[in-house]
Amino acid sequence: MASEMAAIAAQLVAPGKGLLAADESNRTIEKRFRSVGVESTEATRRDYRELLFTAPGMEQYISGVILFDETIRQATADGVPFPELLAAKGVLPGIKVDKGLVDLPFFPGERFTQGLDGLEERLEDYRQRGARFAKWRAVIAVSDRLPTLPALRANAEALARYAGLCQVHGLVPIVEPEVLMDGSHDIEACFQATEATQHELFEALARYRVAFEHLILKPNMVLAGADCPRQAGPEEVAEKTLQCLKRTVPAAVPGIAFLSGGQSDTTAAANLKAINQRAAQVGAPWPLTFSFSRALQAGPMAIWRGQAENRAAAQQAFLDRARLAAAAVAGG
Ligand code: 13P
Repeated sequence: MASEMAAIAAQLVAPGKGLLAADESNRTIEKRFRSVGVESTEATRRDYRELLFTAPGMEQYISGVILFDETIRQATADGVPFPELLAAKGVLPGIKVDKGLVDLPFFPGERFTQGLDGLEERLEDYRQRGARFAKWRAVIAVSDRLPTLPALRANAEALARYAGLCQVHGLVPIVEPEVLMDGSHDIEACFQATEATQHELFEALARYRVAFEHLILKPNMVLAGADCPRQAGPEEVAEKTLQCLKRTVPAAVPGIAFLSGGQSDTTAAANLKAINQRAAQVGAPWPLTFSFSRALQAGPMAIWRGQAENRAAAQQAFLDRARLAAAAVAGG
């Protein structure tokens, strides 16, 4: 099982490829659909995901797709289950296994990710449905008084327990501690929050005996808050992001796949490109790729708008963004 997990992790971060996160919960996809005037129903969600997964040649750029519980059970209009469709293209199917965020009592503004109860049974079921990796997202808020140490520790602990369970069931855990870009904090505040988050995370992973060799880290890039008047350019983002990761992420980790976190598609790709260019100059022990949702999907979804006649154009827009992100992995 260990060698299978090592092979899956390597395949996920294969040169020039990255991940498509298509694991939006029904609540999240409803919000995104509403913004482009589409009603969210099981059928519209299925149609939209089929559009992405059947985009011709997407497998040139996409190594794995993260699915949602509903999506892993769905099939193409012709009846091919989505995990089967992806696997036939050489794309690894994965699954989001956390159950979303709740407020952390007594810590205003901080959240905790739930979903450990019953996780073992769900992992086994997902594996049988074709999943080869899993994802769990924790969120960390930044302000002049956040994050607090208890919030960092509670989330790190849950991520470590999730990751251990995944490895026992032969699924590669994608460990996602997202330091949010909401707010007016500067890039230095993001750096400090991200450094503290990763320190707590890898300490907890070690304590729970999780194999660093068999996980993928999905971090935020180190960025100024969205409302900060001084936005950092790609060179500064690259410098700070690599400095932060080098301080905190063991070299044994086989790969890092960044989330986009609300950056536009072009900004996310420009920052990923700068990160890889800098890594080529100063050295980095891990491949650095993408695991984007919004930066790959916002454009195509706005073109699609639920209309069958826009399908081909939306697929092309998705492929264009995937190509851009994949090129950024090579620093090009
Ligand atoms: P974004 O790229 O939109 O941040 O989404 C990535 C993701 O999977 C969040 O859990």
